[in-house]
Amino acid sequence: MRRLNEGLESEVIARTEELESAYRHLELLDRNKSDFITVVSHELRTPLTLIHGFSQMLRSDPVIAEDELRAKEVEGIVNGAHRLHTIVNSMLDVVKIDHRTLHLNCSTLSVDYLVEVLRSRLAPALDERRITLTTQGLSDLPEIEADPDALTKVFNELLTNAIKYTPDGGSIAVEGRDMTEGQKGGDRYIEIVVRDSGIGIDPQALEMIFTKFYRTGEVTLHSSGRTKFKGGGPGLGLTVARGIVEAHGGRIWAESAGHDETALPGSAFHVVLPLIVPPSAM
Ligand SMILES: Nc1ncnc2c1ncn2[C@@H]1O[C@H](COP(=O)(O)OP(=O)(O)O)[C@@H](O)[C@H]1O
Ligand SMILES: [Mg+2]
Repeated sequence: MRRLNEGLESEVIARTEELESAYRHLELLDRNKSDFITVVSHELRTPLTLIHGFSQMLRSDPVIAEDELRAKEVEGIVNGAHRLHTIVNSMLDVVKIDHRTLHLNCSTLSVDYLVEVLRSRLAPALDERRITLTTQGLSDLPEIEADPDALTKVFNELLTNAIKYTPDGGSIAVEGRDMTEGQKGGDRYIEIVVRDSGIGIDPQALEMIFTKFYRTGEVTLHSSGRTKFKGGGPGLGLTVARGIVEAHGGRIWAESAGHDETALPGSAFHVVLPLIVPPSAM
């Protein structure tokens, strides 16, 4: 019995050591991946800023503005550089979230106003795809203490995703609710739901979509374009959105009956935010 016990004990010790070493290896790999993202995004940012700046200068050059073909070409460079800039910035945001160094500049803001600003910014895409955007209950929400730029990123991501994964002629609804209305004391929260009539999400993917670089479907089949139907993206949007919401002490999750491109069950993204960021959040 004793010999068996000793044998088992040394076996456990050996296995634990193996696991620990595998864990250290994984940790190193994860750190390398994170460093890789940082290096790539920093190295890309400098030349991109140059391309963006110079192409914008070219665009306002009267000689080019008169030449229809040249003007179109320069417009293409400006748009491409802008898109790359957004991707690089999302990569930098992901690194900050991973390293818990995302800083918030909070002020008092109204979610209703923020959504209206985004509505006008996204109006061309909504028109082109004939998607209607309705809101409900947003004007009754209390103002919250939050970082306006960061929250704009969150709702911009949820709305562009809703446009991307909804076929032409569909609809998007943004609903707001004061979760503690009528309740006295305690922490107060508001909930905002972005609902679409799109292709929906597989139940198994509902959590995975928030991890970095995760996208469903065949990557090579994606069309590009920020608001085209099923347009491709780097799969960072929801990762950044979750990082920002959690930095505010809030929660974000997705609900959907499933993925079906004919029945169109739709998806709903829930965002719960406290009226005031708790000191423990970040
Ligand atoms: N409203 C939605 N309806 C259906 N699927 C969605 C929706 N929003 C996100 N997804 C799925 O989650 C994945 C990750 O989204 P995201 O992080 O924004 O990356 P990206 O937009 O770059 O693909 C998307 O590729 C898509 O498969
Ligand atoms: Mg996205």
